[in-house]
Amino acid sequence: MSDSGTGDRQLDLAGARSLAASVQRLLRAAGEQVEEANARSPLVTRLTDHLGCPFPDVLTVEQTYRIWEHASLQRGIDAYLAGHSPDAEWFGISGADRRFESLDSMLTGALRTGGFQLGRPDYATAATGAAETMEVVELGLVTTAGPDGTPIVVGMQSTAAYDEQCVLTVFAKERATARAVRDEVDRLKDEHDVLRGRFVSFTASEHNENELVTFLPRQGPAATDVILPDGRLEGIESHIVGIAEHAERLLAAGQHLKRGLLLHGPPGVGKTHTVRYLIGRLSGYTVVQLTGHAVRFLDQAVALARRLQPAVIVLEDVDLVAEGRESHDSSPLLFSLLDAMDGLAEDANVVMVLTTNRVNVLERALTERPGRVDLAVEIPRPDAAGRLRLLRLYARDLRIEADLDRMVTATEGVTASFIKEMLRRAVLTALREAETVEALTDAHFEAALAGMTAPGQSLTPGLLGAPLDDPDDLRHEDDS
Ligand SMILES: Nc1ncnc2c1ncn2[C@@H]1O[C@H](COP(=O)(O)OP(=O)(O)OP(=O)(O)O)[C@@H](O)[C@H]1O
Ligand SMILES: [Mg+2]
Repeated sequence: MSDSGTGDRQLDLAGARSLAASVQRLLRAAGEQVEEANARSPLVTRLTDHLGCPFPDVLTVEQTYRIWEHASLQRGIDAYLAGHSPDAEWFGISGADRRFESLDSMLTGALRTGGFQLGRPDYATAATGAAETMEVVELGLVTTAGPDGTPIVVGMQSTAAYDEQCVLTVFAKERATARAVRDEVDRLKDEHDVLRGRFVSFTASEHNENELVTFLPRQGPAATDVILPDGRLEGIESHIVGIAEHAERLLAAGQHLKRGLLLHGPPGVGKTHTVRYLIGRLSGYTVVQLTGHAVRFLDQAVALARRLQPAVIVLEDVDLVAEGRESHDSSPLLFSLLDAMDGLAEDANVVMVLTTNRVNVLERALTERPGRVDLAVEIPRPDAAGRLRLLRLYARDLRIEADLDRMVTATEGVTASFIKEMLRRAVLTALREAETVEALTDAHFEAALAGMTAPGQSLTPGLLGAPLDDPDDLRHEDDS
């Protein structure tokens, strides 16, 4: 008690002395415990020894990416390490829950409970092409140096298991250093992006309905394999590819590069086929495809295309998007799609290619937003000359000993894919007769055609694009 007599004060002094001694003992014990904990965690020591500061003083900067950017991020880190510590070796974390905790909390946990230990890095594979993959670090850390030479640690963690992201973490003594490294890795990631120049498609992931990116083969059909009315393919190509070929000179002349192409026509006439051909011709372009309802990932696709330009954005079957709840009303998604086309910078070398078999559904939206589509091309059912070429094309190398003119007449009004299927059936008929097919005859063709138009197969003709009985139906379906 502070206001008591002298004797009490002396007692107080003795108490204080013993208290001080206890505190000292306590501090020493605590210090030993921290050292012990550190010693218990070679994982944390690996980090703090390199950084040269105790764990509580370590600063972290994080950057989160979509899981489909994992391979590019790995490439960015690899490029960074190549420039700053080519011999650096990744280390990892062991512990049962490591896929469900953040790097930071695992390191803290390593100190507190010893639940996570120094281990080997976890690796996974990520696609870098239609048939290529690369190894990526799923969970790991690596010691390296910042741009100014100060020690830093880079961590990579994919959280694919629960939120389809991957996280880059930079540990450093100074926040500015950590930020600089983060920015440089991010820049290198863009520079080495595995999607650049590739043909990719956005789809929804199974569990979280997040966007996923899959690679598609780049190779398109040859021009001779795309059978359209004379001059039509050339017209499309000169608009799309021609601008690409003269991009620099057009820009220099103050002209814009962005362009929108709409291909419309009934199902099975070759809209997708034509798009594949164009993609094959635009080598070096990044192609981002959105089919049907994946159009909801439009913003991400546009951002990607802009970042990796020159680029093509392919929107297949846009009518699916356009159809709002009331079918006469164009959906907001379609409008935002057209706005996205408008929002692309004038000098962006980005091509938007839309396909639809119900152009009337798009009509209002397109007329209300002029200038978005600068070329609209109808892909019609093949005329007589087209059907003859298609019969020859899909007979491939087989000799034809049949009256093709008669087949051309008999197939009036069908689609290209109908003829393709008819040829397959003709070959099948021939194969049933003999081990190897010498030639296709009238009988083979007639059997195939009869099979495809038989009343019992009521679904097939419509599905495959057989001629329609009522010419009004045809007009309606063609939307022309
Ligand atoms: N004009 C064509 N020339 C050559 N082959 C064609 C042509 N049209 C279609 N085919 C063949 O038929 C297949 C199906 O055609 P495609 O997928 O291009 O039709 P589509 O017009 O896109 O139909 P949908 O509206 O149903 O998407 C093609 O992969 C191709 O093999
Ligand atoms: Mg198609």
